[in-house]
Amino acid sequence: MEMPSVLVLNGPNLNLLGTREPAIYGSETLEDVGRLCREAAGRLGLALEFRQSNAEHQLIDWLHEARERVDGIVINPAAYTHTSVALADALSAIAKPVIEVHISNVHKREAFRHHSFVSPVASGIIVGCGIQGYVLALERMAVLLASEVAA
Ligand code: DQA
Repeated sequence: MEMPSVLVLNGPNLNLLGTREPAIYGSETLEDVGRLCREAAGRLGLALEFRQSNAEHQLIDWLHEARERVDGIVINPAAYTHTSVALADALSAIAKPVIEVHISNVHKREAFRHHSFVSPVASGIIVGCGIQGYVLALERMAVLLASEVAA
């Protein structure tokens, strides 16, 4: 049987992780996050794709392309969380589980970060757990995908 596949998408400015506001986002780089995700995916028996873009249209194009192909999406939409109806629509068009991740606790920060266009279309949300949030999201995704197989 083929391994379930998960696309991990990262939105704008996350390429600067490690150097960008380390007091908020920590000192690990996006490469470190990718490594952590690959380790978790290996342990959980998931096939992983890990991508980042600063462009809204690129994230949407990747979601369209993955729509029929992958079994689940883990996404840190970064600032597009708070602005992008288009990204939320692209996620709604995918009949697969979506888990939203934020490294920082957005609810402890500026009011404009408290609203997410993505949360209403997400199966689950992991906020403020640092980059461990990606691992927690993959663990949750493995459970959701296993129960789908069992169902
Ligand atoms: C973020 C939180 C967003 O508000 C912010 O725009 C980001 C990163 C996080 O991971 O904590 O770029 O999604």
